[in-house]
Amino acid sequence: HIYSDASSASKEVAAEIASLIRKRNEEGQATVLGLATGSTPTQVYAELVRLHKEEGLTFENVITFNLDEYFPIQPNSLQSYVRFMNEHLFNHIDIPEEQVHIPDGTLDQEEVPKYCREYEQKIRETGGIDIQLLGIGRTGHIGFNEPGSRPNSRTRMITLDRITRKDAASDFFGEEYVPRRAITMGVGTIMDADRVIMMAWGEGKAPIIREAVEGEIREHVPATYLQEHKNATVILDEAAAEKL
Ligand code: GLP
Repeated sequence: HIYSDASSASKEVAAEIASLIRKRNEEGQATVLGLATGSTPTQVYAELVRLHKEEGLTFENVITFNLDEYFPIQPNSLQSYVRFMNEHLFNHIDIPEEQVHIPDGTLDQEEVPKYCREYEQKIRETGGIDIQLLGIGRTGHIGFNEPGSRPNSRTRMITLDRITRKDAASDFFGEEYVPRRAITMGVGTIMDADRVIMMAWGEGKAPIIREAVEGEIREHVPATYLQEHKNATVILDEAAAEKL
């Protein structure tokens, strides 16, 4: 779906999420959201906050799982995705803290495999992700599933691609300070979601969007796996759609 700008597109995405939350609330059921970080989803979160404050949308029955987190990282550091999510969403809505899940960047390395298995287990116990939001990295990564990620991969520790670390350099005030690793949900974890919404804005994303949407499905561009998802939508502004 191509929109004239990111703002109107983000409002549509937020409206879809809000309508599912309201429906589930009426049925007395929880809504399970898979959430993304980066600049792309910020306007969706701003709109959800507005719907909470102005239209009484409640998140009391919402459970969230974030896609990824740098490793290692402290949750209060500027670049942490915990901090990002608190600032953009969780501090402004009524979601109970125990219903929020973000991969832990403070673990000892030996603890990571068990932690990742438990993260998957927690997602399964909720009945699975209803809506998964995604951005896309310049390498074609979704979450931090860099080129080479297998379609059946699950939550795990990965090594960040050189291009991804370059793109994160300004956030960390220099490429040498960008962590070399991250914990991310796998491609398989993402593919299990009932619905996937991938968003991209701006001309910088146009080349990788073309690859992701029209390119051959291959592990070199993990976003191409979404072509096989039964209910995935790619939401773009005109600039990101320029090369389609
Ligand atoms: C990071 C995140 C991804 C995100 C990507 C794009 O790598 N781990 O989840 O999609 O950045 O970032 P942006 O939305 O800022 O372009």
